[in-house]
Amino acid sequence: MGTAVSWRLNNRKLVRQWPTAVDLYSGSGSVTAALKKNHFRVVAAVDNDKVACATFRANHPGTRMIEEDIRKVSPAEIRRRDLAGKNLDLLIVCAPCQPFSSQNRKRGPDDRARLILEAIRFIKGLKPRLVFFENVPGLVSARNANLIDELRRRIGREYVFGDPHRVDAADFQVPQRRVRCIMLAARKSSPPALPAPTSPADKRITVRDAIGKLHPLRSGQTDRKDALHAARRHQAIALRRLAAVPKNGGSRSALPQSLKLECHSGVENSKFSDVYGRMSWNDVAPTLTTGCTDITRGRFAHPTANRAITLREASLLQTFPPKYRFVGSASDIQMQIGNAVPFKLIDAFAPVFRTAIRDSRA
Ligand SMILES: C[S@@+](CC[C@H](N)C(=O)[O-])C[C@H]1O[C@@H](n2cnc3c(N)ncnc32)[C@H](O)[C@@H]1O
Repeated sequence: MGTAVSWRLNNRKLVRQWPTAVDLYSGSGSVTAALKKNHFRVVAAVDNDKVACATFRANHPGTRMIEEDIRKVSPAEIRRRDLAGKNLDLLIVCAPCQPFSSQNRKRGPDDRARLILEAIRFIKGLKPRLVFFENVPGLVSARNANLIDELRRRIGREYVFGDPHRVDAADFQVPQRRVRCIMLAARKSSPPALPAPTSPADKRITVRDAIGKLHPLRSGQTDRKDALHAARRHQAIALRRLAAVPKNGGSRSALPQSLKLECHSGVENSKFSDVYGRMSWNDVAPTLTTGCTDITRGRFAHPTANRAITLREASLLQTFPPKYRFVGSASDIQMQIGNAVPFKLIDAFAPVFRTAIRDSRA
């Protein structure tokens, strides 16, 4: 047998021994990418966003992408088709966070809140050794206590829930402040402790580290070698405002009266205070949202250039691997980037998951 063929066969055998994972609410696939890097075999993923699924497939052809409303997906079929009838090792649950986010709080009940409970069917059907939940901190606020109680009540016989942890991705090599709620549950044993921060406050990865070496661009310009590094073309008035916002962390509060936005008068200290704001070279970026390349939706202006950050800059601040392929229009891609769980955050946690899974097999 040729060396190349036998290497491929051995390699396939090795991959078959890797712990298995299923990625629920997988989006464009950054969690799957980080798990694969850490030698997990992600056998299936579920999401109902057509374009995010296309991005997922472009990067993870070896994972069965189930493009469907999760409420219609059968865990029994995943067990049969993707796990050869065996139990799963790791279940990822990154349910939509909008129903729990502080910005949505005033809008009343949101049906999407119950999507997190879909995890129960998958836990019962796939019997994972470990379950990882990621969401916004609002998930564990008093108003959602009944959801968490229901989750615990319905799987609590077989699973031990760890306490919810408030985790800032900036502590784990992510050049972005992104505070999240992480919960782990383990089958018949206590879940592992999360790792200690690898980039605490004095060792942050900064905006400069992440995007400082990219080709400099002005509004409307595109890097000839990188279609994702394309700066929005701003209108003249927006350019005048940006020019008046101090470099490196400045805010719209510095605008002269003549350039102030009428719709923002009297709301200086509101959530709009970041609008037209610049990032700082020597700090982490603010939390990227689904509007992360739009200066009217947050502090998303470049530290020094008079423009919003580009999709390439946003993807690097979310720690997507530089060669990650994105499918869709600019606004589709912006949405996929803003929704993502940072690759580096999962990259930091995955070794802990592997060890816990290995120990539970012993
Ligand atoms: C917070 S994002 C997940 C992010 C993803 N883990 C990543 O790293 O990119 C939530 C995802 O849930 C998906 N979603 C929302 N409702 C859904 C449903 N009913 N069925 C399946 N997926 C759904 C959205 O399309 C979105 O991609």
